[in-house]
Parts: sequence; C-alpha cells; structure tokens
Amino acid sequence: MDSSEFLEFLAGRSSVRKYSADEISEREIVYMVDCASTAPSAGNLEAWDVVMVRDPERREALSEAAFGQHHVRDAPVLFVVCANYVRSMSRYGERGILYAVQDATIAGTYLLLAAHALQLCSCWVGAFDEEETKNILGLPPHVRPVAIICIGRGKPPAELTGRMPVAEHLHYEEW
Ligand SMILES: Cc1cc2nc3c(=O)[nH]c(=O)nc-3n(C[C@H](O)[C@H](O)[C@H](O)COP(=O)(O)O)c2cc1C
Repeated sequence: MDSSEFLEFLAGRSSVRKYSADEISEREIVYMVDCASTAPSAGNLEAWDVVMVRDPERREALSEAAFGQHHVRDAPVLFVVCANYVRSMSRYGERGILYAVQDATIAGTYLLLAAHALQLCSCWVGAFDEEETKNILGLPPHVRPVAIICIGRGKPPAELTGRMPVAEHLHYEEW
C-alpha cells in the first residue's frame, strides 16, 4: 500500500450504526485484537485491556448504560476498551493515569481500523455511564472503560462525513 492508498483507506472508514444479523467470526475477533496489540504504548506497558461482548442480554444492558444507543444493542460484537491504571501507574505514578487512557485510546483506534481492513463496520461510542458499565462487565476498580466499539456487518453510508479544513488543525511553530 502506498501513501495515497493509505489516505484513501483511512478516508474510506466511517461510523456505521446499523448492522445485519451476520456473526463476526472468532478469526476476525483475534485479527482485530492482534492489530490492537501492535499499538504503541507508554513504556511498552500496554496499559489497556478489552472486554469482548457477544451476549445479547449484556449488549442490551450496555446499550442502556450508553443512554439507549440502539447500535450498542444491535452490534453482534462489542469491544469495551479499558485503561488499566495499575499497569501504567506501577512505573509512572500519577502520570500513568493519563498514559493508560492514551494507551487504551490508541489500541481502540487500531481496533477500529482493523475492522475497516476486514471490511467490517464499526462505531466508536464514548457516551456511556462508566459506573454502570463497570458493574455490567465486573471491571476491577483500577480498570476504566474508555470506549465501547460496536462491530458488525452493514452498509457504509453513501456519503462520508465531512471534515474541517486541515489548515484549521495545523499550527506552524506556535499557536
Ligand atoms: C471520543 C468519541 C466519542 C464518540 N461517541 C459516540 C457515541 O457515543 N455515539 C455514537 O454514535 N458515535 C460516537 N462517536 C462517533 C462520532 O460521532 C464520529 O466518529 C464522528 O461523527 C465522525 O464520523 P465518522 O466516524 O463517520 O467519520 C464518537 C467518536 C469519538 C472519537
């Protein structure tokens, strides 16, 4: 893949919130997590974990924790990407809190792109009640859910979402 194909690949991903009933195979799940585990992390401590959820009742509960977002219930697979504070704080102290959130966010991004590489559909969900989510998944106190990533098969929208001009993001040398 050359650099323009890479940009085309990235630009071709978009959030999809409607899925068919088709299953996601174990092979696809392992591929996506393999991709996530290539992500960089602070001190290579990989302060992230992911809970893969297929069970319909648990997806329903997570959908409620995500304020009723229907795609959380409807996606055949959810990856709940979590920051593992202990893994990072054991070396970095307080700074490790931020590093763990960054590690989890990058791993989640890789999951999203791995899904795209498999021509699966996905949606990053950040709006959810953290305490409810922790209870549903039995997360220990040092583990913070950062994102729910919905994975399924479906149809990408005909039109991709727009972006602000790159010049608005890019500051040369100073703000
Ligand atoms: C931090 C974050 C939180 C998000 N939370 C939600 C969410 O709770 N529900 C949802 O449907 N989409 C959510 N999204 C997806 C965005 O709405 C979407 O990425 C954005 O509109 C750009 O569209 P695109 O992904 O199709 O390019 C979130 C994305 C990010 C990065």
